[in-house]
Amino acid sequence: MTMSRDEHPPQHRLKRYWKVAVLANIKDDNQPKPEGIPPDAFADFDHIETVDALRAAIEADGHTTVFIHADRDLPYALKEEKPDICFNIAEGLGGDAREAQVPALLEMLGIPYTGSRVLTNGISLDKTLTKRIWRDRRLPVAPFQEFQFGDEPLRPELKFPLFVKPAREGTGMGVDTNAIVKDEKELRERAQYIINAYQQPALVETFLPGREFTVGILGRTDSKLYSRHPEWYEKDGFHRFPVLELDTSRSVMPWVYSNEAKSKEVGADGVPGFFCPADVDPELEKKLKHLAFRAHQILNVLDVSRTDIRLDEEGNPRLIEINTLPGLTPGYSDLCLQAEAEGISHTDLVLEILYLGASRWGMVEPRESAPEAKKK
Ligand SMILES: Nc1ncnc2c1ncn2[C@@H]1O[C@H](COP(=O)(O)OP(=O)(O)OP(=O)(O)O)[C@@H](O)[C@H]1O
Ligand SMILES: [Mg+2]
Repeated sequence: MTMSRDEHPPQHRLKRYWKVAVLANIKDDNQPKPEGIPPDAFADFDHIETVDALRAAIEADGHTTVFIHADRDLPYALKEEKPDICFNIAEGLGGDAREAQVPALLEMLGIPYTGSRVLTNGISLDKTLTKRIWRDRRLPVAPFQEFQFGDEPLRPELKFPLFVKPAREGTGMGVDTNAIVKDEKELRERAQYIINAYQQPALVETFLPGREFTVGILGRTDSKLYSRHPEWYEKDGFHRFPVLELDTSRSVMPWVYSNEAKSKEVGADGVPGFFCPADVDPELEKKLKHLAFRAHQILNVLDVSRTDIRLDEEGNPRLIEINTLPGLTPGYSDLCLQAEAEGISHTDLVLEILYLGASRWGMVEPRESAPEAKKK
């Protein structure tokens, strides 16, 4: 099938109300999992309630919405529905860059969409590549090594205990009680398990024993021109959400935010405590926000991200990973809790991501009265 750019001529995009398609991969807990896949497969897929909440937020501003499954019929459904813009939270289906699949398709079809583009979503899913890029720009990361086969000689800078996880998963997938390894034998076993079960390389890192934080970033240099809430943004056009600390000592697997812990309700037994804003001294807070901002910027992330950071043995922050499609489940996802902590509603957060995204596709008239932002 073909869909030319003419089906979305820019002059028609400046209308006030849009037809917004929410694109997502949905979890069906009642469906039996196919054989031979890891127990936590599809854990990063969304519940339909999250899609409903996004649709309600978008509709609250007068737009119409439709939900489209981001499955193999997506190209045909897009042709049928002809959305003005897609609100993308799709995780994608398999391969080495699944979070980049939907953006790639939408770019091919010339359909506007929210959030980061193909390359950034592909790279940020790959924790090894991401860390190589950050390390190249002198951002602090724990020493790491990627194992393709499991029997590679361990580099001398990697000292036990080590942490082993799949290089390209999310939602704590592949992170359970055996992720921390204390000797060669455990390392080899775990690396082999990850490589076989997840069909991808194992990322081996120094275990970071300190506090765990996550920091959300919203915006870009010209946010104020297009935002519904220009007052949220700092001079540079970005908004840093308050730092959220995860008290992982209460987690089902102490010290680690595992898949099991991520799959429970906030406040349930075995779920880490959440503190937002975190009780950190101003210097550490500044450092964490700066690191999350730089992590976002260096990867050319667009409009929204959430970066996970842990403190090492000496108390220095080290970047763990960045989420360019952060969860948006109201009252549950870290980013939504961070927004809530400063009085930003789920509706406003979702609409902001929509408007920032739409503005990149010429769908939003720039504000006249934002001289500060215009200069950038
Ligand atoms: N090097 C490390 N040292 C100590 N703990 C770690 C390390 N790497 C990861 N963890 C723990 O494992 C959890 C999951 O790791 P990570 O954030 O890389 O995976 P994820 O599954 O992509 O997470 P998300 O749900 O945020 O996408 C972290 O929140 C942290 O608790
Ligand atoms: Mg994480």
